[in-house]
Amino acid sequence: MNIITLTADGSNTLYNETIGEHYHSKHGALQESKHVFIEAGLKFTAADQAEISVLEVGFGTGLNFILSFEYCEANNINLHYTSIEAFPLTSEVIEQTAYSAYVPEVIWSDFITNYNNALKAAQKLTPHCTLEIRHTTFAEYQNEQKFDIIYYDAFSVQHQPEMWSDEIIAHACSFLKPGGTFVTYAITGKLKRAVKACGFTIEKLPGAPGKREMLRAIKAEV
Ligand SMILES: C[S@@+](CC[C@H](N)C(=O)[O-])C[C@H]1O[C@@H](n2cnc3c(N)ncnc32)[C@H](O)[C@@H]1O
Repeated sequence: MNIITLTADGSNTLYNETIGEHYHSKHGALQESKHVFIEAGLKFTAADQAEISVLEVGFGTGLNFILSFEYCEANNINLHYTSIEAFPLTSEVIEQTAYSAYVPEVIWSDFITNYNNALKAAQKLTPHCTLEIRHTTFAEYQNEQKFDIIYYDAFSVQHQPEMWSDEIIAHACSFLKPGGTFVTYAITGKLKRAVKACGFTIEKLPGAPGKREMLRAIKAEV
């Protein structure tokens, strides 16, 4: 059961009773998503690029997606967005988040009308944006495709330690192109060591409000 909860910046999140955790920071869902995934991730990686491929771990409500979609449409960047989600929400629950308020109406309607189909196969939302949500666990996800950036947005290590094991982090890193970006809201010594072991250069960045630091890591060029 997921319960709609208000966060400190006035945006909603969901509280997952089974896991015992919110989908976003209680200090602000919207500001966390913008800070970690859009500002430190997408804008950094997409600078001067006409095209970008994103792999997200944990689609959830789609907040990271709609903000990415809006940014790419506004900046003439072709977006290929693949997300992994083991427990997809219904579109009714997603509507309850009221995230439609944070993007232009056309972005929201392109997203919500294609959501259920995107869970079955890749959907072209606009000539510049493709969305595919793979209904599977991340451990089972396989793909020959390599991505420009990974948004690693799993529940925390306290509640889902299996999503932060060295093996699953190496699995995530394997989907990035050389020079690609791994970005996440979390940062621990274990995570840094796991990412470094995959040949990445790590950066500690200021975290979203309420969190001291976050991690961005760049895969070595070959
Ligand atoms: C922190 S929330 C992600 C928030 C999301 N990015 C958003 O903007 O709403 C973590 C997500 O990971 C999903 N999840 C949990 N276990 C998973 C697994 N083994 N593989 C893939 N996704 C998983 C959860 O269902 C949840 O949607």
